[in-house]
Amino acid sequence: MNIPTLESLDVRGKQVLLRCDLNVPLKDGVITDDGRIRASLPTISYLVEQGASVVITAHLGRPKGERKPELSLAPIAIRLSELLGQSVKFSPEIVGESVLAQAQALTAGEVLLLENIRYEAAETSKDESERLVLATALASYADVFVSDGFGAVHRKHASVYDVAKLLPHAAGYLVAAEVEVLKKLTDNPERPYGVVLGGAKVSDKIGVISNLLDKVNVLAIGGGMLFTFLAAQGKEIGTSLVEVESIPTVLELLGRAKELGVDILLPTDIVVAPAFSAESPATLVSADAIPHDQMGLDIGPESAAAFASAIKSCQTVFWNGPMGVFEFAAFAAGTKTVAQALTEVPGISVVGGGDSAAAVRKLGFNDSDFGYISTGGGASLEYLEGKELPGLIALQN
Ligand code: 3PG
Repeated sequence: MNIPTLESLDVRGKQVLLRCDLNVPLKDGVITDDGRIRASLPTISYLVEQGASVVITAHLGRPKGERKPELSLAPIAIRLSELLGQSVKFSPEIVGESVLAQAQALTAGEVLLLENIRYEAAETSKDESERLVLATALASYADVFVSDGFGAVHRKHASVYDVAKLLPHAAGYLVAAEVEVLKKLTDNPERPYGVVLGGAKVSDKIGVISNLLDKVNVLAIGGGMLFTFLAAQGKEIGTSLVEVESIPTVLELLGRAKELGVDILLPTDIVVAPAFSAESPATLVSADAIPHDQMGLDIGPESAAAFASAIKSCQTVFWNGPMGVFEFAAFAAGTKTVAQALTEVPGISVVGGGDSAAAVRKLGFNDSDFGYISTGGGASLEYLEGKELPGLIALQN
């Protein structure tokens, strides 16, 4: 893949359109994890130092073409100003003469953040001509385009894909760093290679499990998705999360894993509770004996220890998705044990995904405890699935 580097693009004194992924978690309007804003800083700072005038476009959540006030990027502009150490202007509009005038009025080193690009329905439209109209408007604000929103490069969206075709372009530092790490996981990873997957939905992970089966030595499954595996094995899962329609595919994957001699690690004990709530009384049960009126909310300590020991014996580990409902203290231990084990991997450990990154920070770990924390959830999974990512394809020369 031949993607132009930031240094190869002439940005000195230029108007630069920069795509970032500033899709951070917010609670009551307050940013609860600013990891993605921080991860965007190296490229923004470089552009500022080069005397570029920087127009940033980004999304927050999935407003689906509607102006949802709770998904405004205004609070993100404030946090970005603090982290960057300079005032970041904010445009509540995305398209139009006033935005063009604001962009053109920027002086060298000034930064302007445009409102949530997904307020424009054309951003995510399947109709290429609709996307092109929006991409053309974005391109009119700049001489060159820098793509640094790694978390969105798997989306064929106007500000990710189409705009790259209209302007001279390059990958920003974050996109370059993410691709370099993911290449290490896909092109001949140092073995043993382990992958730990969690999170709620097994259907989101089927592609990646299927593609990784013949590449990994160990695959550990936790999180809400594990119950579809247990159900596929005919076990009682009580009121735990399950995707019944995925059971046939899961059975197929288990069969393939057996043929390939890949160890799929499933939990042997589960922390259950009668309800999905922080206060719900937790009980530890065997994975073979989940009561019919209880739901599994975390992997148990025996399982967490087995996962940890497998992780620590690997040279390369990728982890995506929490092991349990880590937001509730009573169900956070599995995720914490797995995170701790990742910090002890002798080779490279990669934490993938906005949620997993937020989880490790919430549980008190530092970014530097891990080999790499990817900002991309879906993007890193699709890369590992072997899919072509539109936002990267568009950057190739
Ligand atoms: C993410 O949160 O993974 C990225 O910001 C992409 O968001 P999306 O899944 O809504 O496209």
